[in-house]
Amino acid sequence: DDESEATLRTPIVAVLGHVDHGKTSLLDEIRGSAVTEGESGAITQHIGATAVPLDVISEIAGELVDPTDFDLPGLLFIDTPGHHSFSTLRSRGGALADIAILVVDVNDGFQPQTLEAVDILARTQTPFIVAANKIDTVPGWNPNDHAPTQQTIDAQTDRVERDLNENLYELIGDLSDNDFSADMYWRVQDFQNNIGVVPVSAETGEGIPDLLTVMMGLSQRYMKEEMAVDVNGPAAGTVLEVTDTQGFGTTVDAIIYDGTIRADDEIVVGGVEGPIVTEVRALLRPRPLEEIRTEGQFEQVDAVAAADGIKIAAPDLDDAMAGAPIRVVGDRDVDDVIEEVQAELADIAVQTGEEGVVVKADTLGSLEALASTLEAEEIPIVRAEVGDIAPRDVRVAETANEVKHRTILGFGVETLDDASDLAEQEGVRIFDHDVIYRLVEEYEEYVEERER
Ligand code: GTP
Ligand code: MG
Repeated sequence: DDESEATLRTPIVAVLGHVDHGKTSLLDEIRGSAVTEGESGAITQHIGATAVPLDVISEIAGELVDPTDFDLPGLLFIDTPGHHSFSTLRSRGGALADIAILVVDVNDGFQPQTLEAVDILARTQTPFIVAANKIDTVPGWNPNDHAPTQQTIDAQTDRVERDLNENLYELIGDLSDNDFSADMYWRVQDFQNNIGVVPVSAETGEGIPDLLTVMMGLSQRYMKEEMAVDVNGPAAGTVLEVTDTQGFGTTVDAIIYDGTIRADDEIVVGGVEGPIVTEVRALLRPRPLEEIRTEGQFEQVDAVAAADGIKIAAPDLDDAMAGAPIRVVGDRDVDDVIEEVQAELADIAVQTGEEGVVVKADTLGSLEALASTLEAEEIPIVRAEVGDIAPRDVRVAETANEVKHRTILGFGVETLDDASDLAEQEGVRIFDHDVIYRLVEEYEEYVEERER
């Protein structure tokens, strides 16, 4: 019947890259262009997610995109601030993200978090393109606001063009060092086997028409089948972040990638101690800046359909985990749904042993990434959990037989005050960093020094 008919949903695009390389600016520029095009209302900024409908994309892309060539409804971009890149890329039991933009500062080139992002893209087999950002900073650049790439490159002097190309080929070389064959996007025929590099500027909007065109084409060409979902069915999603929201207590910011969630649905959410069964109290959408003063920060909505970002208020969410699955029960048996969530959590669970280091991370995705790096380095783990470093973690670490295992490795988490006091008292070392391999490197240096 009509109710269960498959519809094409919006592909989810993760925006990844090293700190300060321009991820947020790129999305700001896309939003800004929409405002300039008189489409400000059409673009919604939700929970770290920006939904851009097809007609807006086609406005910005100009002659590069003919909307009648496409039947996907648009693109949903997820910004990944700093170290949060991992949680958004988990792709178990569903698609999050479907495709990605790797943002690289064209002058700065590959940096630690760029490499980390590339690793995860490879591991999760997420197709991506590279936005070679900040082309306007090449010395002598002649800016052409919002121009397509080819047009603005043609307007540069030979020397500027040569300098830009030098940087771009260095980037392509870095990708090839990481076993990705890449080329300028206009030379790429088969985007499944070659990474397209799109020169852009988030500052001037140069190349943004190309970037949107390539993303749209890529999703239409390779993602269309996966985008066919039953949008009326019970929602499936992933928790992006667990937050406190004034007036609502603990809430979760989630990306819904399948089905519909409604304001009174029963839901199952992955938590630290296992699945949490609860009932939605409110679905909250942040208001645009100009409305906040008069209307308050959030608007309550009745329902949200895939793909979209939404803040969910419900009782008992204190133990919810970033990166965990979230499911609407609907007319299914709640036990079946609990089992489904449990299975997904177990799938992510990190292998631990009797002896090893304690590992804490901010999301399930980052915990998984950290654990797999440690495994590759043959560093055993005794306990792995999502959450800040607490005294009970110190209590576990201090029982290690080997001194080098009396350590806690924290990624993107805080160390609670009483935990650092206790650690000092008990001779437990705490390492924290927001780049995984730096964290592991620091730990290995420490071990080496001890053993010398
Ligand atoms: P994190 O969220 O901290 O990881 O950084 P980000 O990748 O979101 O970078 P962000 O967009 O905050 O940009 C960092 C700085 O670079 C800001 O000062 C931007 O104004 C600047 N910037 C970003 N893109 C461009 C660009 O294309 N050209 C120039 N000239 N500056 C840019
Ligand atoms: Mg940012």
